[in-house]
Amino acid sequence: MPDDRRTQLQKLHREHDEALAFAAQIASLAAEGSDASLAEGVRLVREYYDRELEAHLQLEEQRLFGPLIRYDKSHFSLCMRLGNEHGKLRSIATSIEQATAPDDLRAFAQILNDHTVVEEQEFLPLVASLFTPEELDAVLDFSPLPTRPASVATGR
Ligand SMILES: [Fe+2]
Ligand SMILES: [Fe+2]
Repeated sequence: MPDDRRTQLQKLHREHDEALAFAAQIASLAAEGSDASLAEGVRLVREYYDRELEAHLQLEEQRLFGPLIRYDKSHFSLCMRLGNEHGKLRSIATSIEQATAPDDLRAFAQILNDHTVVEEQEFLPLVASLFTPEELDAVLDFSPLPTRPASVATGR
């Protein structure tokens, strides 16, 4: 039932389309390089991470990597590569500031673009061809943890 499979994965496909457009936007801000462009890039990366990216990464890690590796251990290296790139995206998005923006924006855009292309061309086609209807339903039934604690301890 390819149509159903496309439906269950369509949120991820849609977010990948957004990720490719966002990576291009960030790359052009980094290339432009003015203080204002870099500040805008930093603001956009932080906002994107909080609004969408962290939840997207968690969904892939918790609903897709495990079942895919259980189907065949040969998928382990692909999932390791993708997970490693998730770590790099998180690391940049949670530490970027104006002083590191020239290198960090360029790296973030490059990693996000290349990562998303691999997921669209290799990773999601494998998921769509192998997953059971129940495993695909679990993709829709997922609540991510917040990007940061709802309340921060005051130390008192
Ligand atoms: Fe990913
Ligand atoms: Fe993704």
